[in-house]
Amino acid sequence: MAGASSEGRILDAWQANAAAWRHAVRDQRIESRRLATDRAIVQAVLVRAPRKVIDLGCGEGWLARALAAHGIEVLGVDAVAELVDAAQAGGGGQFRLMSYADIAAGRLAARADVVVANFSLLGQSSVDGLLAAVPDLLEPGGVLLVQTLHPLLAAPDEPYRDGWRDGSWAGCGEGFGEPAPWYFRTLGGWLEAFRQAGLTLLRIDEPLHPHTGRPASVIFMAGER
Ligand SMILES: C[S@@+](CC[C@H](N)C(=O)[O-])C[C@H]1O[C@@H](n2cnc3c(N)ncnc32)[C@H](O)[C@@H]1O
Repeated sequence: MAGASSEGRILDAWQANAAAWRHAVRDQRIESRRLATDRAIVQAVLVRAPRKVIDLGCGEGWLARALAAHGIEVLGVDAVAELVDAAQAGGGGQFRLMSYADIAAGRLAARADVVVANFSLLGQSSVDGLLAAVPDLLEPGGVLLVQTLHPLLAAPDEPYRDGWRDGSWAGCGEGFGEPAPWYFRTLGGWLEAFRQAGLTLLRIDEPLHPHTGRPASVIFMAGER
């Protein structure tokens, strides 16, 4: 699968599936989110006691609403208008329609104590470009938090090396169409992506699924070198 066409298909798929995604999140249809990963990312942010948070790939805005309930100022960005509109209507922060390419080009003039990306770093070059812009989004001492699929448990039948994978909406409920491809990164792949962006990995958390006792995700915390 060629990288450039896969990158384009990611946003096409999110645009086409925005309504189904909004329902999946708001109706809490995704079990791992309900049981483990939502709470894990909220806690990971709260531990940093931030005044301000930037939520990259904010989707329909649930994380902003959860953090706003703790008095945190949140700026959410996403490239899918339908999701940004839903986030705006839901309140809890400010939301901007903006792609990772826009942010990589320096168009997001904002800084925060925590920059968070919750299951939203899906591509290769789009994500590498975005990560390179993160140091300019961080206040001094600020951190980037990335929650994503655990590399050792996602796509276990595929070779353990960075590369494009076919997507799936399994476990998200009904109403979805064509899934988006996504770029799989090994643990070493993530480390290298942070390093190339001028960031250092500070911590890894592995929230456990309460039924299986296996990691439901991984949360990376990275800061400026
Ligand atoms: C799995 S959803 C996660 C949404 C939200 N963070 C959450 O926890 O529900 C991935 C999100 O990343 C956004 N996204 C993916 N690639 C993007 C890009 N290049 N620029 C902006 N947003 C992007 C999608 O539009 C989608 O809202």
